[in-house]
Amino acid sequence: MKLEQTLNDARMTVVLTGRLDAATAPVLGELVDRQMEGITELVLDFDGLDYVSSAGLRVILIAQQKMRATHGSMVVKNVSQAIAGIFEMTGFDSLLTYERKLRQLSVAGLEMIAKGANGECYKVDDETVVKLYYDYIDEASAAKEKNLAKKAFVAGVPTAISYDVVACGNRRGVLYEMLKADTLSKYIEKNVHRLDAVVEMYVSFCKQIHAIAVDPNTFPDAVTLACGYVDTCDVFNDGQRAAIKERLLRAERQNTLIHWDLHPGNIMMQGDSPCLIDMGDMAIGTPYFDLGQIKQVLHYYAGMGLCQKIIGLDDAIALRVWSRFVASYFGNPAPDELSAIEENINFYRAIKNVFLYLSGSGGEAMRSRRKDFIFQMLPKEITELK
Ligand SMILES: Nc1ncnc2c1ncn2[C@@H]1O[C@H](COP(=O)(O)OP(=O)(O)OP(=O)(O)O)[C@@H](O)[C@H]1O
Ligand SMILES: [Mg+2]
Repeated sequence: MKLEQTLNDARMTVVLTGRLDAATAPVLGELVDRQMEGITELVLDFDGLDYVSSAGLRVILIAQQKMRATHGSMVVKNVSQAIAGIFEMTGFDSLLTYERKLRQLSVAGLEMIAKGANGECYKVDDETVVKLYYDYIDEASAAKEKNLAKKAFVAGVPTAISYDVVACGNRRGVLYEMLKADTLSKYIEKNVHRLDAVVEMYVSFCKQIHAIAVDPNTFPDAVTLACGYVDTCDVFNDGQRAAIKERLLRAERQNTLIHWDLHPGNIMMQGDSPCLIDMGDMAIGTPYFDLGQIKQVLHYYAGMGLCQKIIGLDDAIALRVWSRFVASYFGNPAPDELSAIEENINFYRAIKNVFLYLSGSGGEAMRSRRKDFIFQMLPKEITELK
């Protein structure tokens, strides 16, 4: 085994190569015994490590106990599949903080099947695609999406199996089961002669997602996230900020799922069965969070002639879908009921736009526009606050 250590103030990184077993564990043991004085952060880099035996695990455990006793932190990085398996088998996975080594994937020669706002989707083989985020997107996004997709799948959301997070140079991606399917956008265009029935199917799929109750600790809470966005958004004064948060917190809390980008470009049709993709913003909360974003896409973007470009659905058809959507979702409400529903949808649409404003989605030109329509969508009693 080879052991290389580097010191950066109170952070020590130890890179291990080869086998950590009865013959070599004492080398690491000696370092842990004698050289940890003043170290608050210990990083064990297992990139080149092939094997760990029980003697190796014991030294890792001692290192962990030592760091904990001095209120320091320890993380094991680049853990191979095989060693992660040993951690899981022995129960060390619950004792240690560790990060798996990402599988490296090259997309050279792979067919690109789609290009979205956050990345590109390539066909890896007949059963698998990789959604590869652009390199400027936060590195943690892939793991976040993978994690939410996995939890949604076991909660009963019809979605693709998410296999793994992979690295492609400095980009990160998620390997997914390949859905042999068209988007709902394409399906709507092909079935425009029976648009009412298709919208009804779309609505009942949305309601199916919105009826899935989950343990509130397993998904982010949309209200908490939304309050955070409002807090950091510079377009509001303190009075407006307080009123928006008060309204968000006043609404009944729900432990049912939302997708937060539930437009027909994120639903794939396997035959006549819908399946959800693009799971990075899944959360729990009122369905109005979803309805606001659906309106943003099918009504607002379509009105600007952008729906075709953004979700692959003809703009005029998108407007027709939206005009039927709300009545169908709420079972043909009476006019006064409908205007209260519309008002609420606009409020939650403003919230999504605060998020999009903060994330810079759509570029600089869109950013200044968003500020205007955040104020158009919010009720006057909020926008007029000083
Ligand atoms: N599991 C899958 N099987 C087949 N195709 C897929 C799969 N996942 C994604 N795609 C294709 O890739 C496209 C983009 O995927 P996705 O919506 O997840 O990415 P995105 O970059 O977040 O897109 P956007 O932000 O534009 O909505 C989809 O519209 C679909 O055509
Ligand atoms: Mg998408």
